[in-house]
Amino acid sequence: MTNFVGWIDDRFPLTKVWNEHLAQYYAPRNFNFWYFFGSLAILMLVNQIVTGIWLTMHYKPDAAMAFASVEYIMRDVEWGWLLRYLHSTGASMFFVVIYLHMFRALLYGSYKQPRELLWIFGMVIYVALMAEAFMGYLLPWGQMSFWGAQVIISLFGAIPYVGEGLAQWIRGDFVISDATLNRFFAFHVIAVPLVLCALVFLHIVALHKVGSNNPDGVEIKNNKDENGIPLDGIPFHPYYSVKDIAGVVVFLFVFSIIVFFAPEMNGYFLEKDNFVPANPLKTPEHIAPLWYFTPFYAILRAVPDKLGGVIAMGGAIAILFVLPWLDRSPVKSMRYRGMLSKLALGIFVISFFALGWLGMQAATPEFTILARIFSLIYFAFFILMPFYTKMETTKPVPERVT
Ligand code: HEM
Repeated sequence: MTNFVGWIDDRFPLTKVWNEHLAQYYAPRNFNFWYFFGSLAILMLVNQIVTGIWLTMHYKPDAAMAFASVEYIMRDVEWGWLLRYLHSTGASMFFVVIYLHMFRALLYGSYKQPRELLWIFGMVIYVALMAEAFMGYLLPWGQMSFWGAQVIISLFGAIPYVGEGLAQWIRGDFVISDATLNRFFAFHVIAVPLVLCALVFLHIVALHKVGSNNPDGVEIKNNKDENGIPLDGIPFHPYYSVKDIAGVVVFLFVFSIIVFFAPEMNGYFLEKDNFVPANPLKTPEHIAPLWYFTPFYAILRAVPDKLGGVIAMGGAIAILFVLPWLDRSPVKSMRYRGMLSKLALGIFVISFFALGWLGMQAATPEFTILARIFSLIYFAFFILMPFYTKMETTKPVPERVT
């Protein structure tokens, strides 16, 4: 075995990479529950790619055949139903994991210096993931696939001068059609997944350059022993490889229960209207995207003007990119911040959930007013951040992790 590894090491830096990134990569010793979600995100990415490859073996990217091919997978292909549900439920669970992963960053100030680029890579991943999910949802060619894409692509039409041309260019036609389905298939199965894998690689490279943050927000690199090993660090392998595997087991348990007992989650993970074939002549009564888009959909609908709505929705995502520069707190972790930051984060989370719920409802006048209030709170959280994070008194951060 030693000879074999030696043979490889002479030709490829196997042991070097193993040590630098796993066995001698020191991570803070106080990781908690919130640190499971990075490795779980990798797990979900792999799940989507593997089940996606098998789905393509029977799926037909053709407007005349797509819907039936998905039903064929569900009914006739051996284990096809499982592959499809692992993929469709997997998409929703991927977003659950990503939202928790992002919330952890808010909780512990993980986007703050020196992790700004790590955060930005994360945000680009998030946007790419939304594009991936959006294009994937067109593929079953159900009513919601068709009309959801119709609503979202027509938003580009609101852009002055170039809008209509741009929307046509995206569709490849005057309406959502076979041409749109074909290009969305190409992007969904190969272009965006390639980009996602490259981005995740860069995300991890950036992470390993600066090292992980932790629930105390203490930089473990500031306290090293005589050998240069962080006093509050433990080798990633075996300590966190084992911890992450335990996380994977628990997660797969929950995931399996959903896949086997509630794969459509009563319309939240696969909408009921999507079990009806796409019909360009019949608009569904109620068009709403899947839950992971609804907070932004609610912001879009909260603005009466179409272009204004598009700008607000884009702004709601764009503002997350500059988060590292909005937060002026001298400390990272919520543990050592003042009341204002804690209150702001709490209210922000409530309004994000409220927007998510409102985005699923029909836009009645009452709900529209609520959506406006919660949209304002959403933006206020970010725009006021430079002030409340500077004003409040913080607790002293310990030298070492607690
Ligand atoms: C495919 C999606 C993603 C994968 C596979 C991924 C993977 C990882 C992994 C393995 C870690 C280290 C373990 C951990 O801290 O949990 C990590 C850390 C981190 N990720 Fe992600 N990530 C993804 C998306 C995102 C997104 C969307 C954001 C934010 C916009 C983000 C922001 C961060 C930050 C700030 C850290 C450092 C956290 C800390 O040290 O406290 N990631 N990511």
